[in-house]
Amino acid sequence: MKKSIIIPLLFCAILTSGLNAQDLREKYRPEFHFSPKANWMNDPNGMVYHNGIFHLFFQYYPNDKIWGPMHWGHATSKDMVSWDEQPIALYPDSLGYIFSGSAVADVHNTSGFGKDGKFPLVAIFTHHNPVLEKLETGKHEYQSLAYSLDDGKTWTKYSGNPVLQNPGISDFRDPKVSWFEPQKKWIMTLATKDRVTFYSSPDLKSWVRESDFGVDAGAHGGVWECPDLFPIQHNGKQVWVLIVNINPGGPNQGSAGQYFLGDFDGKTFKPYSKETKWLDFGTDNYASVTFSNTGSRMLMMGWMSNWQYANLVPTHPWRSACTIARELGLKTVGKEIYLTSTPVKELDVLRSTGFNEQNVKVQGQLDLTEKTKNSTGLFRLELETKNTADFSIVLANNEGNELVVGYDKATNQYYIDRSKSGKIDFEKGFGQKHTAPRLSKDPTMDLTLIADAASVELFADGGLTPMTDIFFPDSKMSKLYIKSISGTTLKKLGYSVLQPETKSAQGK
Ligand code: FRU
Repeated sequence: MKKSIIIPLLFCAILTSGLNAQDLREKYRPEFHFSPKANWMNDPNGMVYHNGIFHLFFQYYPNDKIWGPMHWGHATSKDMVSWDEQPIALYPDSLGYIFSGSAVADVHNTSGFGKDGKFPLVAIFTHHNPVLEKLETGKHEYQSLAYSLDDGKTWTKYSGNPVLQNPGISDFRDPKVSWFEPQKKWIMTLATKDRVTFYSSPDLKSWVRESDFGVDAGAHGGVWECPDLFPIQHNGKQVWVLIVNINPGGPNQGSAGQYFLGDFDGKTFKPYSKETKWLDFGTDNYASVTFSNTGSRMLMMGWMSNWQYANLVPTHPWRSACTIARELGLKTVGKEIYLTSTPVKELDVLRSTGFNEQNVKVQGQLDLTEKTKNSTGLFRLELETKNTADFSIVLANNEGNELVVGYDKATNQYYIDRSKSGKIDFEKGFGQKHTAPRLSKDPTMDLTLIADAASVELFADGGLTPMTDIFFPDSKMSKLYIKSISGTTLKKLGYSVLQPETKSAQGK
């Protein structure tokens, strides 16, 4: 068919289906998750809180919707909910593409980049050199610096780059740097293929190798990437958390984040156990790391996609979003300590109409569609029940798509089933059911479910079991059911429509 005929036909089709061109293009645009206006994004980078502003940098390819020569895109927010995209912060240069890394507020001006009493923000990132990569020397990734003296607006690359040369390790990347107060030095946690390597520095410019961790610990179904190391106080004790993202090899295949708990003395990480614990059991929370400079609050965001299909998802004109920001904590269950992830309290600004009820009986199917009157499909559902029966929460639409989030008593597992959730055939493994163990031993279970246009984030048992999954329904998921064949009583049922301010709706 000729282009001149196709275009009017397309317009007719759009008009008759009641959609305008904008709706069609932006169908899966998240409303309260950060996504770039256009083109490719992956890992969040350089997340730092400074002067009342949260900075999010991210792996960005501004010329296409698929992965390419990496830049650092930039977005800012006052509350981690409403994000404003800013001009690109770092462009590739003669040393290579700008891969993942972190940013710190160098408040003591240890780097000497500060000027006229103003301390610098310093970004520590991997330069990935595609020319050297072709030569297969194994030395194509090394660490470099850039700094900003105008609160993150513009960045200058350090003339002495790189600051950490590659000793011959083909995957040598994603530096996460933090200040180690007891010894007044910087610690860099670096992913080095099948382990992490810790380096230290007085000034961010000269680095000394301290130790390695992980070759004989945790999951090794893929390469180790994007690590993070930070302490959390737990029952009067300091527990160090080491996050290591891994691709592939996640609990439900593909990319995922694992973590270890232990002690760190400025040199060595000593784990309580070498067993992997998972940061999120869904398939769409990767490269999750924390913001720096947030005091004792540990705030984490991840890339809401998976390398299995990130380049194929049916969004246009952009690809990928970040998860909501989550606050991390620790919880003891029996003899084990686990990390908990819960939605940051700042998200409450989104709550609009809703209801709270108690002792709601569910026998068969409870149709909440009328009551929720939610044309957008954006909501937060909170419920509490006993772990005595199977139940599920079903998001649905007029097209017959269903996204099912539930609990299976026989296996004591939570799950998200996206096998009938709409568009699934762009990748063979996408339309699957993902499962997660229930870690809590408490007979009462609580669930928080946060739904945006194309994602659900489940936080079960106070965040002990988080699951993040994306999905692509044929129209908005404006219907909601809770089902339990054997019957259950919801001790509490809370529901809020989530309504972003117009300004916060990304890409508008
Ligand atoms: C993780 C990752 C990082 C790397 C970046 C490249 O998703 O592979 O290890 O720095 O993406 O874009």
